[in-house]
Amino acid sequence: MSASGIEARSEAGVNVIRLARPEKKNALSTAMYRGLSEAFEAGERDPGTRVHVLLGSPGAFSAGNDIADFLGDGGGSVGDGLNSVLRFVRLLPMLRKAVVAGVDGLAVGIGTTVLFHCDLVYASRRSIFATPFVDLGLVPEAGSSLLAPQRLGYARAFELLALGETFSAERMEAAGLVNAVVDDGYVESTALAAAQRLAVKPAAALALSRSLIRGDATLLGERIEAEVRIFKERLSSPEAQAAFNAFLTKRSGN
Ligand code: COA
Repeated sequence: MSASGIEARSEAGVNVIRLARPEKKNALSTAMYRGLSEAFEAGERDPGTRVHVLLGSPGAFSAGNDIADFLGDGGGSVGDGLNSVLRFVRLLPMLRKAVVAGVDGLAVGIGTTVLFHCDLVYASRRSIFATPFVDLGLVPEAGSSLLAPQRLGYARAFELLALGETFSAERMEAAGLVNAVVDDGYVESTALAAAQRLAVKPAAALALSRSLIRGDATLLGERIEAEVRIFKERLSSPEAQAAFNAFLTKRSGN
């Protein structure tokens, strides 16, 4: 348990990491990015941990980056908020242990792009995936500008990342990001069962196989840095600041 909005527990070789800020649909705060990095790093270090599992809350895997934090990071200097985001997105391609995700409900922004770094993704029927980066005056992040076209094909990647189209769970399964769509209520048990199957496999063979299947991460690391450079500039752009203010004003009912 943690006050950071991230809960982590280890069971039978599985590092279960949960996004736990349901009142904000698991929008990722600075503390949550920090907690996520710490939880994944702890699992990577622990010799008894074989697999990571990433889960959200009922109906909300994640609504993406906390937009109020975006507004703070647009002030020019790179504050603690942006540093925590960067630490997390730079960690993703460095993970050596398999990652299984269980998605129930909203997967917005990094809630979708983090899934490209997962090895098995299970989604409930009611899940929806969206990356409204361009509408927010931003650009794709977490390596998604490279990974999405590779995984989904250019046409669907552009529709997701640039047009801002919402994808259903069934469409994401057909597109190749989701392994299986399961009935609402069964996604966590399905993700944990898959993780447990991985956890009892020969650990070195699994890690080596994962590394071969994912391929050389050099290009991905370079793309993440390129995205970061542009994303940072975009945060303080008039387009982005207007979009963040519009969201927050609407929310506060002003
Ligand atoms: N950043 C900050 N707060 C967020 C948030 C985000 N990304 N997503 C949701 N929240 C907050 C809402 O402001 C609201 O807070 P409040 O109860 O204090 O007003 C709470 O979470 C619940 O969200 P709400 O909008 O009422 O839920 P909904 O089911 O009607 O809509 C979304 C859910 C995700 C469609 C909607 O909240 C949304 O569009 N969020 C922004 C998503 C986004 O653009 N993320 C960034 C991607 S790069």
